[in-house]
Amino acid sequence: MTKTSISLPSVIPTLEANKRQDNPLWLKMWQNNQIDGFHLDTVNSLLIEYWHNQNLKKRSRILIPFCGKSVDMIWLAEQGFQVVGVELSPIAVRAFFTENGLKYKKKREGNFTCWKSGPFTIWCGDFFSIQKYQLGRIDSVFDKAALTALPAEVRAQYLTQLRGLIDIDVGIFLLTTEDFETDQGLITPEIDSEIIALFHSNFHIQLTHTQRISAAVQITAQACLYTDNKVYNMRQRAL
Ligand SMILES: C[S@@+](CC[C@H](N)C(=O)[O-])C[C@H]1O[C@@H](n2cnc3c(N)ncnc32)[C@H](O)[C@@H]1O
Repeated sequence: MTKTSISLPSVIPTLEANKRQDNPLWLKMWQNNQIDGFHLDTVNSLLIEYWHNQNLKKRSRILIPFCGKSVDMIWLAEQGFQVVGVELSPIAVRAFFTENGLKYKKKREGNFTCWKSGPFTIWCGDFFSIQKYQLGRIDSVFDKAALTALPAEVRAQYLTQLRGLIDIDVGIFLLTTEDFETDQGLITPEIDSEIIALFHSNFHIQLTHTQRISAAVQITAQACLYTDNKVYNMRQRAL
């Protein structure tokens, strides 16, 4: 038997199933600088290796939900893209600009504050409230630790909101970390069942790459636990 789950790469406090209760927890994590569980000072290697398969034009506008202060945004801008992030915590947004030596301008717009500098626009506020007209045209989505940061019960709602922000020709480049527990010996990487349930009706799902990040850990006499990082490319189905 095989059991799978998609999750964040590292341990962060268990979040509630209700996103309204999660927001204060995320804000507190940034206030207390408890970001070691997800923030990295290096650019994600799978982004560097697989992003260009999308063949996007220079200056394409990349939406990054739940962007934190990720240095992946710096790499994307260096590749010639325009970065459009959405992040709840003003501490994270300020840190992104100041730690990268970027002079910014910011403007209040309704429930959001829009921070801008060169190729970077970051909307600070709740992703579930942002509207399509605020973001403007989006050409691709980079999701790293956004879908998987949410409690499983809120993931479908996240996808509905995300689909409302992009046109039908816009794809999603999704990175996940997946644990699977199996008593059947080494198995071929597959598309996670939760990914299928979430995306199948509206997207063509392509599993582009699988990187095994832990050797098998024996968890019972029969079963072993494996952890994989995966790269998915999601293309929306025409209506
Ligand atoms: C797991 S971290 C990932 C950050 C970034 N993607 C990275 O790879 O470093 C999730 C981020 O989403 C932010 N976040 C959580 N809920 C959010 C929401 N409803 N709207 C916008 N950002 C949110 C958190 O503050 C946090 O910075």
